[in-house]
Amino acid sequence: MRDMATPLVIHHLPEAGSTQTVARELANAGAALPALVVVDRQTRGRGRTGRTWEAAPRALACSLAVAPDLPAERRSIIPLIAGLAARAALAEVAGVTVSLKWPNDLVTSAGKVGGILVEGFDDLVVVGTGINLWWPDPPDGFAAAMPQDPGANLARQIAPRLAELLLDALDGAGDGWDRDAYAAACATLGQQITWQPNGSGTAVEIAPDGGLVVDTGEGRQTIHSGEVRTIRAATLVTDHDEGQQQ
Ligand code: BTN
Repeated sequence: MRDMATPLVIHHLPEAGSTQTVARELANAGAALPALVVVDRQTRGRGRTGRTWEAAPRALACSLAVAPDLPAERRSIIPLIAGLAARAALAEVAGVTVSLKWPNDLVTSAGKVGGILVEGFDDLVVVGTGINLWWPDPPDGFAAAMPQDPGANLARQIAPRLAELLLDALDGAGDGWDRDAYAAACATLGQQITWQPNGSGTAVEIAPDGGLVVDTGEGRQTIHSGEVRTIRAATLVTDHDEGQQQ
């Protein structure tokens, strides 16, 4: 379990542009870490690779600012353990099971319902999680995790559990991480995939550093999320079609 000498401080706001920005500003201003920023409504959510993040009417949007005791070479696993923590918190608190699309999209048969943005600034890491919980009439390509309105409180309940699970995992990550649990939850494994700019093969394994090991037919290659822009799977229903929240 986590060292409770450094308790999680929760900052709940009714609204913000991006929880990532608020969490970073708090940390820069000297706020106690780890700090979790949770909002009821996010108006200018940011996604990976400069994309925007659209939130459903009922959505979780939170960012955890933390200074993990992790050597730089192990930080590549943070996005993956953050995905596992989000998945576990959603299952525990809401009873909803999702899969992970490597490296850390939360997906159901309806499509991508959640995403994670990890930003590093020297010793500070800000892990942002967005989960679209309920979306009665989503635009094309958008999806949510739950068929019924779970009410306004659910996101506020999931966020602290997610943060505690992530902090626990970060505390243990110097010695390794639960690759087996990740592999069991990862819908990308076993899929025929292509990635940009130019690669294809079968996803076979998760590497110790969080990379995706792909059998290209001419050997095995490990790809890392920072190196690829999009990943398309031949049969994964959450294929990154144009227009879908990516
Ligand atoms: C992705 O592109 O898949 C990552 C999406 C991350 C969205 C979350 S919502 C909370 C936090 N604040 C942001 O502005 N982005 C992240």
